[in-house]
Amino acid sequence: MAVVGAVTALAGTNPLADAEPSEQPQARVLGGTSASTEEAPWAVALTDTYGNHFCGGTLVSAGEVVTAAHCVENQLTGGERTPDEIRVIAGRTDLRSTEGTIGAVDDVWVHPDYRDFTSGDDLAVLKLAQPMPQRPLPMVQPGDTEAYRPGTTARVYGWGRTSENGPSSDALRSVDVPINSDRSCKDAYPNYDNRSMFCAGFPEGGKDACAGDSGGPIVSDGKLIGVVSYGTGCGRPGTPGVYTRLANYVPLADDLP
Ligand code: ARG
Repeated sequence: MAVVGAVTALAGTNPLADAEPSEQPQARVLGGTSASTEEAPWAVALTDTYGNHFCGGTLVSAGEVVTAAHCVENQLTGGERTPDEIRVIAGRTDLRSTEGTIGAVDDVWVHPDYRDFTSGDDLAVLKLAQPMPQRPLPMVQPGDTEAYRPGTTARVYGWGRTSENGPSSDALRSVDVPINSDRSCKDAYPNYDNRSMFCAGFPEGGKDACAGDSGGPIVSDGKLIGVVSYGTGCGRPGTPGVYTRLANYVPLADDLP
């Protein structure tokens, strides 16, 4: 993924890169909280056919997973991943275990206007071959703006990196971050588009999503309000995480094949 590439390119210049995760409090993301698929049964991991985790997703009905459009792009070929190249893993807190359900994908819908994550519309839906037994998460109401009120706390889930240059997490983690104003998000990212995105994070950084969390859920008030999309580094001061503003895309069903 492009963000992973950017992060990798920075590795040599980060004096903390070789430090143990415990020695780099500033670079810690996801706030250090373990989560489980018992509390978040709708949080799913996307893997390739070899079982390599590459993104997150959210079960929004028994047969549909919401994720990021950029997760469906194959970074090696530049093409789209085909349905048979994607597995949906549900009910597996620790990806080293064999718990839960492995779902096959029948169809991939990518937002037709998606080009790259910095220009928005970073949204895709995977149609599952079989319904999943896990409880889905309701999506935010169409056009809801209240859900994105600055200062509202939202929770992000993922198996992504726990520090900017560190490895991905085998176990699901979560972190609480406040939603930012459009103004401050625009200051951080000139490409920011409040129609398709929102930002969340603390001004001082320290808590954030990171590489590998893309496509995964950000939840508020028991609803899926967004999808992990991008960010400069992870948990840096002044560059919050950017999420797809789901309320401006629901209902998704109309667009599905
Ligand atoms: N694009 C990243 C991925 O592939 C996720 C970026 C989220 N970054 C952030 N700092 N919030 O997993």
